[in-house]
Amino acid sequence: MDISQPIVQTYDKSFGLSKDKPLVISLGGSLVIPNSGMDTKFLAQFNNFIRQKIAQGWRFFIVVGGGATARHYIEEAQKIAGHITDWDLDFLGIHATRLNAHLMRTIFQDVAHPRIIANYEKKITQLKQPLVIAAGWKPGFSTDYDAVILARDYGAQAVINMSNITQVFEKDPKKFPDARPLHNLTWEEFEKIVGNKWSPGSNLPFDPVATKLAKELKISVYVVGSDLNNLENVIAGKIFLGTVISPS
Ligand code: UTP
Repeated sequence: MDISQPIVQTYDKSFGLSKDKPLVISLGGSLVIPNSGMDTKFLAQFNNFIRQKIAQGWRFFIVVGGGATARHYIEEAQKIAGHITDWDLDFLGIHATRLNAHLMRTIFQDVAHPRIIANYEKKITQLKQPLVIAAGWKPGFSTDYDAVILARDYGAQAVINMSNITQVFEKDPKKFPDARPLHNLTWEEFEKIVGNKWSPGSNLPFDPVATKLAKELKISVYVVGSDLNNLENVIAGKIFLGTVISPS
């Protein structure tokens, strides 16, 4: 199979999204802060996209990752200090997510709830705004897990995972160039691909701790990459490039 060609897949109505319930977007920090610095072009397009969708009646929770800031802090701190506990490494990442979340809240200040969710035990009641921004919470997992918590606590219909990973592959495509992309799979199948071990700063399609919870809660996750036209297709129920991970 030629994996350089985009693989498209249509889904039946069971994967259709509706405006009745909010959508959680797990926005990979690498899209906001790639290695080259802040991606203002992407942020400007994302800003327009979300505002357009809000105007059409959609509601969102957006939890943003730490991007290159998190990774640089985690890697460089280890080089300088030698051994650092996972707890400290995770907290370096969490602070990066908080900085990025504040950036997002600033961009969306006129439409977003004024409080950034950083303590997930303090739930927002009587939400009036169409958008809430969230950051990392505590050590032991990534913002993917936080996205699943948001979906559970605010009755979201699905989690959309945007990052530099466009699709789930049957095995790591960096190690195995012949790996085939998957269009849809169950949480049990996905667990076999990502394993069950957390390590700070890891770059997986969806983190193992979040996977366990999403499986328990029977939440569907759309892994869709970074392209906003593709995201438009996901939301509109059209053909898109990506992978749906769903309950069995
Ligand atoms: P993410 O891994 O979620 O951000 O958080 P990212 O790397 O930008 O996301 P992707 O890979 O592009 O999608 C950065 C780091 O912050 C810590 C973890 O170490 C994580 O790898 N973190 C984040 C936590 O410890 N707890 C959280 O709730 C969130």
